[in-house]
Amino acid sequence: MSDKAILEYDGNTYEFPITKGSENELAIDIKTLRSASGMVTIDPGYKNTGSCESAITFLDGEKGILRYRGYAIEDLAEKADFLEVAYLLIFGELPNKEQLETFHNDIKEESQVDEEMKKILDAFPKTAHPMGVLSSLTSALIAFNPAPVDVSSETAMYRSIVRILAKFPVLVAWTLRKKKGLPLDYGDNTLGYVENLHKMMFKKPNEDYKKDTIAISALDKLLILHADHEQNCSASTVRIVGSSHAGLFASLSAGISALWGPLHGGANQAVLEMLQAIEADGGDTKKYMGKAKDKSDPFRLMGFGHRVYKNFDPRARIIKKAADEVLGNLGIEDPILDIAKGLEKEALEDEYFVQRKLYPNVDFYSGIIYRALGIPTDMFTVMFALGRLPGWIAQWREMRLRGEPIGRPRQIYIGENHRDFVDLASR
Ligand code: ACO
Repeated sequence: MSDKAILEYDGNTYEFPITKGSENELAIDIKTLRSASGMVTIDPGYKNTGSCESAITFLDGEKGILRYRGYAIEDLAEKADFLEVAYLLIFGELPNKEQLETFHNDIKEESQVDEEMKKILDAFPKTAHPMGVLSSLTSALIAFNPAPVDVSSETAMYRSIVRILAKFPVLVAWTLRKKKGLPLDYGDNTLGYVENLHKMMFKKPNEDYKKDTIAISALDKLLILHADHEQNCSASTVRIVGSSHAGLFASLSAGISALWGPLHGGANQAVLEMLQAIEADGGDTKKYMGKAKDKSDPFRLMGFGHRVYKNFDPRARIIKKAADEVLGNLGIEDPILDIAKGLEKEALEDEYFVQRKLYPNVDFYSGIIYRALGIPTDMFTVMFALGRLPGWIAQWREMRLRGEPIGRPRQIYIGENHRDFVDLASR
């Protein structure tokens, strides 16, 4: 097999090396394209562009494979907990018992959020979308931790990573409690990471917190499944913002905004709202299948389709099973789950969806579990953000440690050519 690609244009020949990944993915390395030929590539939505080399997550969309640092998502979701997975993603290896304990203790040390932050939260109306609140609070944290991270120091990097892993769940819980009109809670450092999150979110002021093992283990699994997904919209945002050497928290805040959109993480909210609308409309799934296929109708079947997966999203398989288990264990019968299963069955047999290789994605069933756990619909994407936090951190850290250049794409200009200025009076 040749190790170079040849481009011929206008009587000239240009050669470019081929780069091979550890799973044998091939890429044409066009770093010298513009200086050699004067041309750039154009690829809206970066459908064919590898923006970086990365050792964090491997996914094969055709085969439906997802691995974090080489470990299958199925194994991690079954056998690991969220904090172990966070450590794995960020530092590259599964922690041993001692490393995990130190990591957790360091997180606990940093788990206070400055009281002044409450004033910022207070200024939001109760009706504010939780993703907007979370993004603002994450950005506001910078004011209380203003020192830039010295990326040449492993210790400084570690400290700032631990700091955000500690404070972010508090912000998530506060966002929910503000929405529900509950007093803010600081959690309990004797609890596990996800258990503490659960307590901070749900503890009632007039009752002792009761540990809910089903809810905690469901949350843990959902967070793991969302923890990274290589160069998706929000991870790419984090990398590109970080590439200007903006700090970690600023990059994360931008990532949260990118995740908010309904074509990305916001799909989990959109799926549930769609399922509720179908239920309210009499449960006629065929009608909505028709709308999804009608090109003159903007409606899309939310939770279906993926830029990379042209096969089952492995996370969707795990979440569908978990939805059955969690609802079963909690003794909940949710008609929305039946509507979702009905839609999935119809879509998988429908020529439109089959031809375009549209399968359920991670968000198709996750909202049903969140709903069963008592999490309001507009908080779903906030939960996704917490899950994705280690992935964003890992992507940012890798980008900075590799000394990647500032992200700055080119364009093909299609506007007006030079024109003479016309005075206001003459226009
Ligand atoms: N419902 C109906 N048709 C769809 C859907 C859908 N959910 N998704 C894609 N299609 C159709 C498109 O109309 C297009 O049809 P065409 O070839 O006849 O024009 C074809 O399938 C390809 O779709 P694109 O939009 O070109 O695919 P792209 O890779 O750009 O988009 C995306 C992927 C954004 C995820 C898309 O499938 C979608 O909008 N899905 C619904 C939203 C969603 O669930 N997003 C969450 C993704 S997972 C995540 O980010 C966590």
